[in-house]
Amino acid sequence: MPLMQETRLSFEEVKPLIGARVQADKLALLSGAHTADVMELLEQRGVLVFPQADLSEEELISFTGTLGDYASDASDGSATRISIDPATSSNADFTRVSFFWHFDGYMNEVPIRGSIMCAKVLSSSGGITEFCNTYAAWDELPEERKRQISGLKAVHSHAAAAMSLEPEPSHERFREWLTVKNGTLPLVWTHRSGRKSLVIGNTAAGIVGMDPMEGMELLVWLRDWATRERFRYSHEWSVGDMVMWDNTGTLHRVTPYPADSGRLMLRTKLAGEEPIV
Ligand code: OGA
Ligand code: MN
Repeated sequence: MPLMQETRLSFEEVKPLIGARVQADKLALLSGAHTADVMELLEQRGVLVFPQADLSEEELISFTGTLGDYASDASDGSATRISIDPATSSNADFTRVSFFWHFDGYMNEVPIRGSIMCAKVLSSSGGITEFCNTYAAWDELPEERKRQISGLKAVHSHAAAAMSLEPEPSHERFREWLTVKNGTLPLVWTHRSGRKSLVIGNTAAGIVGMDPMEGMELLVWLRDWATRERFRYSHEWSVGDMVMWDNTGTLHRVTPYPADSGRLMLRTKLAGEEPIV
């Protein structure tokens, strides 16, 4: 429901459990006038869509800076070019693992708070970005399942995600994947707010102390649950759209698209504030 006060951010909910479509003047966004509202709405809705916001790279970076600390991937502070075309991106292989449900930066001590992505060039097929709300997925878990998974930890590894794209790597290739730090993270994140979210995704290789197949079965069950239609929003992009997601309470993936499709997204990250505990 849109808020009535003129000074507040105007938005509508996309689905009952995820997403808000925000109508805001670009200059007002860039001025920081909506910072508190945007951050509050992000936490409530998981994904914020700013249709046809049409931000340039410079504007995207300054908008990000109004919301918190801009965590740049680049030493020169530029935004990240998200592309799976090796001709455009030196990280193309790494980026392709985004075809499967994940959150960003499992290996960081403090995972990023959120990401903001602007569509510059679209693919004529695929390229739909999907999100699911892992707060809502936790809230609706059967009590027995909540009891079962509270206190469990999963091992996260880039290798687990990469295997899904390349199931029979050479040993050399596998060792390359292992150079990305592994992490052991609780399955259930109890945030400072007291809310809980599920910590799963394609990087989860297994559950600590559990039989490998039983652990995998549990991870599959949880992913299947968390990505059910009621927790999920699929964004079909128009050029100029800006989408922001809460990386601490959602998973995301992009539906596969061809490497030479030309698809190009510009993306910034907002530094995190809370470790996963
Ligand atoms: C990412 C990501 C999805 C997309 O940038 O972390 O997963 O739609 N992107 O490109
Ligand atoms: Mn991602």
